Amino acid sequence: MLEICALHTYYGLSHIIQGVDLTAAPGEVVGIFGRNGVGKTTLLKTIAGWVRPAYGEILLDGEALDGASAEAIANRGVGFVPEDRRIFPGLTVQENLELGLSLRKNRGRAERRGAIEDMFGRFPRLRERR
Ligand SMILES: Nc1ncnc2c1ncn2[C@@H]1O[C@H](COP(=O)(O)OP(=O)(O)OP(=O)(O)O)[C@@H](O)[C@H]1O
Ligand SMILES: [Mg+2]
Repeated sequence: MLEICALHTYYGLSHIIQGVDLTAAPGEVVGIFGRNGVGKTTLLKTIAGWVRPAYGEILLDGEALDGASAEAIANRGVGFVPEDRRIFPGLTVQENLELGLSLRKNRGRAERRGAIEDMFGRFPRLRERR
């Protein structure tokens, strides 16, 4: 369960996230809607630890994520897929996927391979281009 309470994030003096409350239960899909530039990406970056919140709480299964490093948050299993293509163009599809999983230190080799197979199952065209 992801719980966000009274979250505020600034870029300098710009007050972007102004008191967001949100909960996402296991298996639930939550959409965040708003006009361009309103702060949707900033909210996700704050959850992922790319941007620090000024105030508020972000809890994953009751434990605070706010204040943790982006790496520690990723290791807790919180992923952020940016809308632009943050890939390494010099690497293969397979290598890009492996790199994305390399942060998950708590996963064994077989589990990481299984996660990639799962991705190829969901996106068969990706497998063709592995
Ligand atoms: N690194 C930054 N430094 C300063 N201001 C920023 C930064 N990134 C975004 N902003 C500003 O913060 C506001 C929120 O941007 P954000 O990208 O979160 O909006 P968004 O809702 O995701 O927009 P879009 O619908 O275009 O994706 C915008 O006014 C944007 O110009
Ligand atoms: Mg955005």
